[in-house]
Amino acid sequence: MTTYLITGANRGIGLELTRQAAASGANVIAAVRDPSKASELNALAASSSGLVEVIALDVADAASIDAAQAKVGARPIDVLVNNAGVMGKAQTVLDMEAEDFLEVMQVNALGPVLVSRTFLPNLRAAGHAKIAVISSLMGSFTYPGASHIAYSTSKTAVNRLFHALARELAPEHIHVAILSPGWVRTDMGGPNATLDVRDSAKGLLRMIAATDAGNSGTGRNYAGDPLHW
Ligand SMILES: NC(=O)c1ccc[n+]([C@@H]2O[C@H](COP(=O)([O-])OP(=O)(O)OC[C@H]3O[C@@H](n4cnc5c(N)ncnc54)[C@H](OP(=O)(O)O)[C@@H]3O)[C@@H](O)[C@H]2O)c1
Repeated sequence: MTTYLITGANRGIGLELTRQAAASGANVIAAVRDPSKASELNALAASSSGLVEVIALDVADAASIDAAQAKVGARPIDVLVNNAGVMGKAQTVLDMEAEDFLEVMQVNALGPVLVSRTFLPNLRAAGHAKIAVISSLMGSFTYPGASHIAYSTSKTAVNRLFHALARELAPEHIHVAILSPGWVRTDMGGPNATLDVRDSAKGLLRMIAATDAGNSGTGRNYAGDPLHW
């Protein structure tokens, strides 16, 4: 049976990925900052016949990542989805605050790397595992907007990091998907976004399933179109 680990699983895209993966019969380790506040996810877990397990994991806190890995133990993980993310402030290069920039980089760029490295023994134990990171069109150099520059830059950085990670892990047959979810109606995407979260999550899971040696380290969106750097 396939086992997923999904970060930021208590709302938005992460919650829907958890719901759909469990509905397909997979085990999901649903990682959230604060399980006591994840009421919707806890209800899903309670009705999942044991398929969904909720654990605490703050991707910006190395000790929390280590504690989560200790809780998971030696269990194999087939698919790690680095989904957790923050938007940061609507600021440009000229007015951005250093503290906000560093926080956004920590959560969106460094966090997925630390999580992936920490759970590597679990991914190795699965054999032919996959690592996905949920990136954004806003990380592309062709994206015209200048606001939310910390967020954009964090996604550019995570693209570069996971492109490199794909090369490092290729000899171990662990493949890496860099995925844009589209503009999705969540707390982050807002009510005017064009995509329902169910359609985005469905496409993302399909793209993860289609990740192999041939496309590892490339960027794609939820529909399979190329995500240009
Ligand atoms: N929605 C869009 O249109 C869109 C477009 C492009 C890319 N994305 C990307 O898709 C991913 C999911 O976005 P979303 O729309 O579902 O956002 P969302 O509704 O704002 O949810 C973000 C999730 O990330 C979690 N999170 C934030 N900081 C965290 C941390 N330090 N440790 C662990 N979890 C943390 C949040 O947990 P809490 O509830 O505890 O805050 C929440 O569960 C993000 O990486 C985002 O950048 C979204």
